[in-house]
Amino acid sequence: MRANFILDQIFAAPIEGEVFLRLAGSERLPLTAGQLWLGVSDPLSELLPTALYPAMDEEGQWYLAGSIPSEWQPGDRLNLRGPVGRGFTLPRTSRRVACVSLDERMYYLSPLMRQAFLQAAEVVYCGPPTPIRLPPWVEMFTLDQWQEWWEWAEYIAVQGSLLAVGTFFNRLAEKFLPDSRRVPIEVLIHSQIPCGGMAECGVCAVPTRRKWLLICRNGAVFDGYQLDWSVIEG
Ligand code: FES
Repeated sequence: MRANFILDQIFAAPIEGEVFLRLAGSERLPLTAGQLWLGVSDPLSELLPTALYPAMDEEGQWYLAGSIPSEWQPGDRLNLRGPVGRGFTLPRTSRRVACVSLDERMYYLSPLMRQAFLQAAEVVYCGPPTPIRLPPWVEMFTLDQWQEWWEWAEYIAVQGSLLAVGTFFNRLAEKFLPDSRRVPIEVLIHSQIPCGGMAECGVCAVPTRRKWLLICRNGAVFDGYQLDWSVIEG
């Protein structure tokens, strides 16, 4: 879909250069955890769209997160296109959900955490300390403590850059063999999205076992078993 929204508020995110956007009337947007949107504010000066990721605050209010042009201001009109590609698909039967953030962008996972909570799942967050307060129903672990929840989880979601997720899964290779496929693993990969698919620049390409896929077209969430980690590791 394409729709226009007024930028209601812009406030800083914990990652330098990234912000949170609140849009007036955003309840009209069909937001899904992990599913990308592309935005343009001034089509005369912005040749290419800006990638925006759904996020959520502790009260369950949606917002969009991303690195936006410095010209964007509250009150501007924002044209949004999306949703693009695939978001997280949490099985309705999952009752033990692990959310792994490989950097401070844990807020990309916050809508998924709430979705899990609403279906009565126990939720584990595994990642670096975050300045964003996690809900009291989320149990926290550090990245080094992955063995404490890996076998426990019925569904695992991971977010990070391509290099970070490749390094993470290559370190876990022996736990990631085919016989552990009983647990769905989905991976949100964030990257530069310079052209939003309009110029086929390939900057957002991700290697899978069969071919390269584009975050701006197929992602930003991928089946963890389809990604080719051996190519990804730096
Ligand atoms: S951002 Fe250019 S192909 Fe995806």
